[in-house]
Amino acid sequence: MGKTYQIAVIPGDGTGPEVVDEGRKALKAAAAKFDFKLELTDFDYGGERYLRTGEILPDNAADELRRFDAIYLGAIGHPGVKPGILEKGILLRLRFELDQYINLRPVRLYPGVETPLKGKGPEHIDYAVVRENSGGIYTGTGGISMKGTPHEVAVQSMVYNRFQVERCLRYAFDYTRKFGKKARGKGDTNTLALVGKTNVLTFVFDLWERAFHEIGERDYPDVKREYYHVDATCMYMVKSPEWFDVLVTSNMFGDIITDLGAETQGGMGIAAGGNINPEGVSMFEPIGGSAPKYTGKNIINPLAAICSGAMMLETLGEIDAARAIEEAVKDVTANKIKSLAAGKMGFSTSEVGDMVAERV
Ligand code: IPM
Ligand code: MN
Repeated sequence: MGKTYQIAVIPGDGTGPEVVDEGRKALKAAAAKFDFKLELTDFDYGGERYLRTGEILPDNAADELRRFDAIYLGAIGHPGVKPGILEKGILLRLRFELDQYINLRPVRLYPGVETPLKGKGPEHIDYAVVRENSGGIYTGTGGISMKGTPHEVAVQSMVYNRFQVERCLRYAFDYTRKFGKKARGKGDTNTLALVGKTNVLTFVFDLWERAFHEIGERDYPDVKREYYHVDATCMYMVKSPEWFDVLVTSNMFGDIITDLGAETQGGMGIAAGGNINPEGVSMFEPIGGSAPKYTGKNIINPLAAICSGAMMLETLGEIDAARAIEEAVKDVTANKIKSLAAGKMGFSTSEVGDMVAERV
């Protein structure tokens, strides 16, 4: 018998629990096939719990979760709770307290999936974004003064220190070496591109750019380095996504460009992400939200949650199991479901989960 992994599961709100259930099936099938064990422990964090108890997250939540090998999250967001409370109080708080300083978001078009990009197929849309996940505008200082008066002032600063930038870049270089296009047999080079705004944000991205080249030249000479401004990146993500291999960028830019990326890979039904602490406990989630209007109908697409489960296995080191889930998903998108959209798949949520699990 192989290793046993302790997994904390936070099904969360809306359709979160439904898609997580399908993820569990795929994970179990992969564990059985590749001879490891997953022990899943559920946590009820989310909007329902908050409305019931008035507590967003117990004080010791991060400490509890630190005892696990990984966290598998469904969705956070409840129509009965004002926007911002759960996002900040659960999702961002866990990311920060667990120091998940990387947000890894692959942008991969699977066979059979429709992209809004004309003339582009799976061979063109096949890259990953490494988003810095612990700093920047998300945690920078700020405040508002003279609020409500004609003279009110609001400030929210983009703050990065060398430490945050370096650790993110190192992760990105390592990831590129391991999973870049050359490493995956899809190209001649492993290429990491820094996405910034050196022409305007001349302090913050000067730091990023210098660190990028220093670290790259010294420790990763085998990884090719490129630089793009973030606005141009958006253009190329639409026009020439095949140029990209691995992109690394700041928290806010990463947030924005990965929604664009998700749309090009077929939308929120398929886009998966990992909040990663390479030295600690990481948390995997479908990028899409809780989709309240589809809740309980068994029509939401569970593939994003299933793919985030595969990312979790990859990060735990169960690479073959992760690939098996990915291949199963690809077979289902290529040969089975008609669309990724909720209610238009031609199958129910649980049928899609069953098909993936069978194929694994
Ligand atoms: C995401 C989300 C979050 C973010 C929100 C919900 C706080 O948009 O995971 O990309 O901005 O990081
Ligand atoms: Mn986002």
